[in-house]
Amino acid sequence: MRMLPASVVISLVSFFGVLVADAAGDEGHTRDHTGAVTRDAAGIINSRQEMMSYVGSNMRTVSRMAKGNIEFNRDYVRAFGLSVSAIAAAFPHLFPEGTGKEAGTTEADAAIFSDLGGFAAEATKLGAAGRAVAMSADAAELSDNFSAMAGTCTSCHSQYRSR
Ligand code: HEC
Repeated sequence: MRMLPASVVISLVSFFGVLVADAAGDEGHTRDHTGAVTRDAAGIINSRQEMMSYVGSNMRTVSRMAKGNIEFNRDYVRAFGLSVSAIAAAFPHLFPEGTGKEAGTTEADAAIFSDLGGFAAEATKLGAAGRAVAMSADAAELSDNFSAMAGTCTSCHSQYRSR
């Protein structure tokens, strides 16, 4: 089964590191909405895409577990759900100005930058849905919680993700 890959863990750790990092200015670095200096745009885009990739790559396994096609594994479901919730908490902070389509290959829609509050609200829904998935005690509960979580993906993507 796929667990949280090292690259995503590093992204999360370095993200939370940014929150406490000394904000000494460097040319070529972007600033987050608080004005703190963060990593360069390409690195930020890569981090958020890897987080999403991790979430996406587990969806099929969780879906099969929810349908009873493979055995329900509580440890796996808990690890996945909690990881999704951690990613959801970090996610809105990975869209500082200057990391839109002008900065590289990204599917981040311009609406994110004009409506960061609405975007963050979608991420909050994903976080709550991830915690519900993590708490699922059996396949029947997982089935309901998984469907609810999948609804949050579509809701955010339809408004804030574009090619
Ligand atoms: C808060 C909004 C939001 C939610 C909720 C959300 N996504 Fe995303 N997702 C995005 C955005 C924005 C991108 C584009 C990121 C970029 O290219 O910089 C994206 C990109 C992706 C990608 C492509 C990653 C890549 O390698 O480029 C996958 C796969 C994905 N999402 C899966 C999911 C799944 C599965 C869920 C639900 C469990 C989900 N997303 C929930 C906003 C969201």
